[in-house]
Parts: sequence; C-alpha cells; structure tokens
Amino acid sequence: MEFFIFAIIAYILGSIPSALIVGKVGYNVDIREHGSGNLGATNTFRILGKKAGIIVTLADILKGTAAVLIPILFDADIHPLLIGLFAVIGHTYPVFAKFKGGKAVATSGGIILGIYPLLFLIMVGTFLLTLYLTKYVSLSSMITGVITVFTSLFFRDVILVIVITALTVFVFYRHRENIKRIYKGTEPKIKWM
Ligand code: G3P
Repeated sequence: MEFFIFAIIAYILGSIPSALIVGKVGYNVDIREHGSGNLGATNTFRILGKKAGIIVTLADILKGTAAVLIPILFDADIHPLLIGLFAVIGHTYPVFAKFKGGKAVATSGGIILGIYPLLFLIMVGTFLLTLYLTKYVSLSSMITGVITVFTSLFFRDVILVIVITALTVFVFYRHRENIKRIYKGTEPKIKWM
C-alpha cells in the first residue's frame, strides 16, 4: 500500500509539465507547436532560449530528486529508485499534458541525484563532454546512458544497475525519431557550445 501511494505521488510530481508551464506563463508560447514539439529542456532551449531552458532543466531534474526523497523521508523499506521510476514515467507520459511529455533524460538524472550525487556528477560530466564533442543533445543523452550503465557497476547496488539499464533502454526508445534524424543527417546540432 505504501509503495502504491508513493508511486502515485511520484507519478503526479513527474507529470508537472515544466516546459509547458514556463513556455505558456513566461512567453505565451506552447512549445509543443514548435521545434521538435517535445516537452523537454532541449526544445525549451531551442525555442525559448537559455534562461527558460535552464529553468526547465532544473525543474525536470528536481521532480525526479523529490520523488526519490519520498520513501527516504518516510523511512520506508523501499528502494528509492523504484519510486523515482514513476516520476520518470510521469515526465514522459504526463497526466497534465495529454500523456505527451519529455524524453526521460533530465528526470532520470534527478532520481540518481537524490541518492547517488557522485554518479549524477559523473553523468553530467559525461553528457557535457559528449555534447562538446558531438553537438547533438540527443546522442549525448544516449551515450551518457550507456556509459552510466557501466559506471553504476562500481556502486555495488544491483537495483541501481537494473534501473539505469532499464532507463537507458527507455531513453533510446524515446529518442527513436532522433536516431532516424541523426542517421539521415537532419538532427539539429547545438550552436552555443
Ligand atoms: O535528450 C535530448 C532530448 O531532449 C532531445 O529533444 O527536442 O531534440 O527531440 P529534442
């Protein structure tokens, strides 16, 4: 019962469509109608600029972090990452935005931040280095996922390895259109790094 309640709270937290809120409230723009149409930080940077992009990135990360803190604060005998997964599901299939959300990257990072901050920092470093080298946000997200699967092996937590592996597969699935565009050479590169 405890698991069920925490999972619902995490799903609702994850469902908060920060990219939609920031776009509509701050700029009167529905970013679903622009760019890739994705309700995520990358499309926010692309359409609304750095300030909005940074706000959405932080908000999407913190949704995941807040979710893993729920079982910790209640001292529940549940692995926090299992609750965090529901925030990632909420972020990608949000009840508040017709179940069309982001691509799972920032919120997945947020759930790792909540219990393994060092691993999160390694993920951020991997992502920024890959982004610098490739200029593709989508490719950097996927490469970071794969590298994190291997890095997670050093943390001696089987659930962590399983969750990271599952999330990486899910991130690839969510980026299937990006993969096609990279293959065709039509995926946009970032211009500011
Ligand atoms: O992983 C990056 C992801 O957010 C890509 O988004 O808008 O380029 O499809 P977008």
